Amino acid sequence: MMRKLLPALFVALAVVSCGRKASQSKLPNYPKVDSLMKVMTLEEKIGQTVLFTSDWSVTGPSMRPGYLDDIRAGRCGNLLNAHTADFTREVQRIAVEETRLGIPILFGFDVIHGFRTIFPINLGMSASWDIDAIRRSAQIAAEEAAAAGLQWTYSPMCDISVEPRWGRISEGSGEDPYLGSLIAAAMVEGYQGDDLSKDNTILACVKHFAAYGAPQAGRDYNTVDMSERWLREFYLPPYKAAVDAGALSVMASFNELDGVPAHASAHLMQDILRGEWGFEGFVVSDYTGIMEMIHHGYAKDLADAGRLSINAGLDMDMMAASYMNHMKELVESGRVSMKTVDDACRRILNVKAALGLFDDPYKYCDTEREKERTLTDENKAFARRFSAESMVLLKNNGILPLKKGEKVAVMGPLANSKDDLLGSWRGAGEVKSVPASVLDAVKEVTPVGDGASKVILVIGEPWSWTGEAASRSSIKVPEEQIALLRQLKKQGKKVAVVLMNGRPLDLSEESELADAILEAWYPGTMGGYAVADVLFGDVNPSGKLTVTFPRNLGQVPIYHYAKNTGRPYVHPEAKYESRYLDVPNEPLYAFGHGLSYTTFGYSDITLDKTSFKGADVLKARVTVTNTGDREGTETVQMYIRDLVGSVTRPVRQLKGFERITLAPGESREVEFTIDRETLSFYRQDMTWGAESGDFDIFIGTASNCTKNASFTYEI
Ligand code: GLC
Repeated sequence: MMRKLLPALFVALAVVSCGRKASQSKLPNYPKVDSLMKVMTLEEKIGQTVLFTSDWSVTGPSMRPGYLDDIRAGRCGNLLNAHTADFTREVQRIAVEETRLGIPILFGFDVIHGFRTIFPINLGMSASWDIDAIRRSAQIAAEEAAAAGLQWTYSPMCDISVEPRWGRISEGSGEDPYLGSLIAAAMVEGYQGDDLSKDNTILACVKHFAAYGAPQAGRDYNTVDMSERWLREFYLPPYKAAVDAGALSVMASFNELDGVPAHASAHLMQDILRGEWGFEGFVVSDYTGIMEMIHHGYAKDLADAGRLSINAGLDMDMMAASYMNHMKELVESGRVSMKTVDDACRRILNVKAALGLFDDPYKYCDTEREKERTLTDENKAFARRFSAESMVLLKNNGILPLKKGEKVAVMGPLANSKDDLLGSWRGAGEVKSVPASVLDAVKEVTPVGDGASKVILVIGEPWSWTGEAASRSSIKVPEEQIALLRQLKKQGKKVAVVLMNGRPLDLSEESELADAILEAWYPGTMGGYAVADVLFGDVNPSGKLTVTFPRNLGQVPIYHYAKNTGRPYVHPEAKYESRYLDVPNEPLYAFGHGLSYTTFGYSDITLDKTSFKGADVLKARVTVTNTGDREGTETVQMYIRDLVGSVTRPVRQLKGFERITLAPGESREVEFTIDRETLSFYRQDMTWGAESGDFDIFIGTASNCTKNASFTYEI
């Protein structure tokens, strides 16, 4: 009788209590959660803190064959790597109808750059600098994923990185905290919308918390060690922006930070995430991350690891089975308090309530909606435009755009690959959904044959060389690809190189030999057509690098917000200055670099005042003119340098940008507002704020722009 009564009770209560929407950052109290908590056993509460993978796809080093039995027994309340409306409906039925309390399963999946319609990899998306398009891509991904039984994505990946050896630099938004923060917030808004209980929005997950993008030697999972100042100034902002945008889950990172694995860092999860940022959602481990603290040498066994994690604020155990196997004994022995388990369980149930799962556990499992909403013509048309927008024209001596109808050769190991277009973390994207490779797409617009004088050479990295557990000790393309380029140039060919890759590459030889270089990243489902659209001028490229491309690995780490040092390299022949003997200090391609098929002229910068103070603001203006013969989009970038501070300050920091589209000959004034917050940083006493002093402002087409003006600020 008890069993039969309870589900009916919850449905009734759910209708009353879950009508309220989760606000963007705060969760309301759900009376139904309260009533559940009152009747749940310790084992059932622990079950809600357990996340296992199905056997649909493998995203980590272990599997859990008996996950359905775990669900039936109430030992597992959450499942990852399982989708489709049909499959999730059956698993949900087991949870709702075959367990004592019928608490619905939360289904999660890595929807990183699209679900079925795959967009460019995130490093590519970021190169569009198009925040609205990035938000729209997350919305489409959410619509497609929510139609396939999913309520939770392990995205946005907010890891800043200046480490091209690291395979996962492909998954993030590059090196800049200002741009990365805007992108992180936009993706959360796109995924979660204004109401998590809608059937086309999904729960975002801020990962990997924190500073996973700074592994020593660029080797995945390796040690991360940096000052608190550097962490807060350059690595934490995108995570915070995502939390401020309302993300209700966070994933801990595999790395240690300052000697403490993030999976047991109370400093990260309690002091900063919950204490300073007011985060109210739940924290999930990464795949077996809790168990890995044994390898870190931080926990002596799986029980100890579980104790350390949950007491540090980690609510859900992905795949380590530490909480499932040891939490009951940890509570009964007093090493973990009942309140700690209650808090973890409640946070998870609150999010399930916010998703509307108690109102209708099957609302996301609709096969008709699944068919209607995925891979629609509208989604594919958007993907094609967005993919072209993400591409960066690194070099062009005039060979591009190519002329339709003029015979070209198309060569290179990636020219006819549909698989590589999708990149890593391709969600439920399938090669069979890719309509054209680059070769296919070029053939549709012009004759293709090898006797041609112009060659499109598609080279780079196979997609498996990027993403998780894919660090490289070299950042060059394979030697045989460069040899092919050398050969073509020896034959007097004009060569447009199309790059498909997921990291900054050492292009020092290619940049000398190629007549043009188009950085296409892994451009997604519609990427073959998007590459052709750019090569033949249907789209004028507008992408800008969001990560610095070095001349060689020896320059790494190299990034635009570097410090000046006490011996800046300013005298070409000087010895005792910070320089190399064999290469210049400047990168091959700077952060913010990207060419167009037109040209843009910049006026001098005008300031509405040369000094301001307190809460006043200063306006900086520049007039940009399209000085070429075709319409183009330019990302006008604004950088600030604080000349003297209580700690040393970067020579450039991105503090604003605006994308503008100009017709040939058209001019437009672009205005940036500088205020106290623009100038704020972690001062020597680690307080956040501005300081009085002199500043330079730079506005231009890339981080190495030289047009500047100066002003003074007084706090
Ligand atoms: C992986 C990744 C993480 C992903 C998770 C689930 O190990 O580190 O980014 O979300 O496992 O697939």
